[in-house]
Amino acid sequence: MAIEVVTTRVGLRERVAGWRAAGETIALVPTMGFLHDGHMSLVDIVKAKADRVVASLFVNPTQFSPSEDLATYPRDQEGDLAKFEAHGVDAVYIPDVSQMYPSGFATSVAVSGFGEGLCAETRPIFFQGVATVVSKLLIQCWPDYAIFGEKDYQQLCVIRRMALDLDIPTQILAGPTVREADGLAMSSRNAYLTPEERRIAPILNRELLKAAVNPTRPAIAAAGTAILDAGFRSIDYVELRDAETLQSVTTPLTRPARLLAAAWLGKARLIDNVAVAPVT
Ligand code: PAJ
Repeated sequence: MAIEVVTTRVGLRERVAGWRAAGETIALVPTMGFLHDGHMSLVDIVKAKADRVVASLFVNPTQFSPSEDLATYPRDQEGDLAKFEAHGVDAVYIPDVSQMYPSGFATSVAVSGFGEGLCAETRPIFFQGVATVVSKLLIQCWPDYAIFGEKDYQQLCVIRRMALDLDIPTQILAGPTVREADGLAMSSRNAYLTPEERRIAPILNRELLKAAVNPTRPAIAAAGTAILDAGFRSIDYVELRDAETLQSVTTPLTRPARLLAAAWLGKARLIDNVAVAPVT
């Protein structure tokens, strides 16, 4: 049987209400499509937790600035549906832009603190767009669980805070970053890399892991230099932050931290982050 596709919030609510009436639990996996194994790992995690899994497929225009890649963002709806079906997704929600943002739409959700610094420095509207669309998806679907990847660590923190602050009772889950064999974090935007850039790309992760052993200021600066020397065009940031609050921290660490980076390689802006344990 072909996977069920719903395109309206009314259709989504009806489908979810039927499952609820049968006493079933529901999980939501929000995505922008062009799926890879990182996305599918999130499906697999919630499949084991909830009775029903809804995935959403929506390239959200409000999280792209005019200079970004909304028009060229990679898409493959047929391939995505086949992957969702193969992983046991019960329904895929594919709203169009007018369904999400009807004429007159005037509200946005801004999360201060977590939504500032790091990626927000160079993508000032990004987290507002993400928080707005994810709050809408959560309210439309009202799932018991929703899952997001640690690959987009700041996004995960923003969404956790937003759900808490807006009293959305969905449990926000996190999935570990899924990587290619050479360490490159899987991303739909890796499709932008030329073969030569693809060869260089895993250096971002390699340098983060190296610096994370003892992330002093000189070690973090050395990671930045090595990333540029390898052929990256520029670095937006390499920073050590508290894993829970995302506040800046320095060694010696007393709490778990995260070393996060964003850097440009050709046309692609790659992001990555690794866990850093406190010294015991
Ligand atoms: P997208 O980039 O399609 O990612 C969808 C989900 O997959 C996000 O939670 C992201 O963190 C996760 N993900 C991406 N790459 C991953 C990897 N290598 N390992 C594990 N998880 C990974 O992130 C978005 O879409 C959008 O901002 C969205 C949350 C859907 C709002 O529009």
